[in-house]
Amino acid sequence: MKEINRMRVEFPAKSANEGFARSIVAAFATQIDPRIDELSDLRTAVSEAVTNAIVHAYDQDRTNKNTVQMECVLYPSAIEVTIADCGRGIENIEMARSPLYTTAPEMERSGMGFTIMETFTDDMYVESKPGEGTKVFLRKVFHVE
Ligand SMILES: Nc1ncnc2c1ncn2[C@@H]1O[C@H](COP(=O)(O)OP(=O)(O)OP(=O)(O)O)[C@@H](O)[C@H]1O
Ligand SMILES: [Mg+2]
Repeated sequence: MKEINRMRVEFPAKSANEGFARSIVAAFATQIDPRIDELSDLRTAVSEAVTNAIVHAYDQDRTNKNTVQMECVLYPSAIEVTIADCGRGIENIEMARSPLYTTAPEMERSGMGFTIMETFTDDMYVESKPGEGTKVFLRKVFHVE
């Protein structure tokens, strides 16, 4: 499929940027006139991936040096979004992806983020190296009339 547009943003890994991240992806996707429900699914999946980078990737600190990089590539009826961090990484991706698995139960996490990303997109994969960071790739197909 022919790429029609792309964009890249980087922002500090802080919770104030969760809403910002999902909103700019949705705004970017609007140019291909997607269905509202599919756009909403995309927003949900992006939100889970960005929240993970903010919550899990880095030790909490108040500086803005720990960042999340997000890249979007737009096609006539699909979008690919990559959300990356340079944080602690994931030891066992298969385990992390299984429903209800969380390393942060004390923060009232339910371990459903990856399951939600998988359910609300058409394709999802995770690359991660302990000590180097994590990259989540999401692909959402839009059924444009
Ligand atoms: N970017 C990341 N960096 C480091 N670890 C991560 C990252 N994303 C996910 N993980 C690990 O994978 C686990 C599962 O993630 P998932 O999003 O499914 O659940 P959760 O974030 O723990 O809970 P929920 O998303 O339901 O609030 C996390 O608990 C964490 O250990
Ligand atoms: Mg999560």
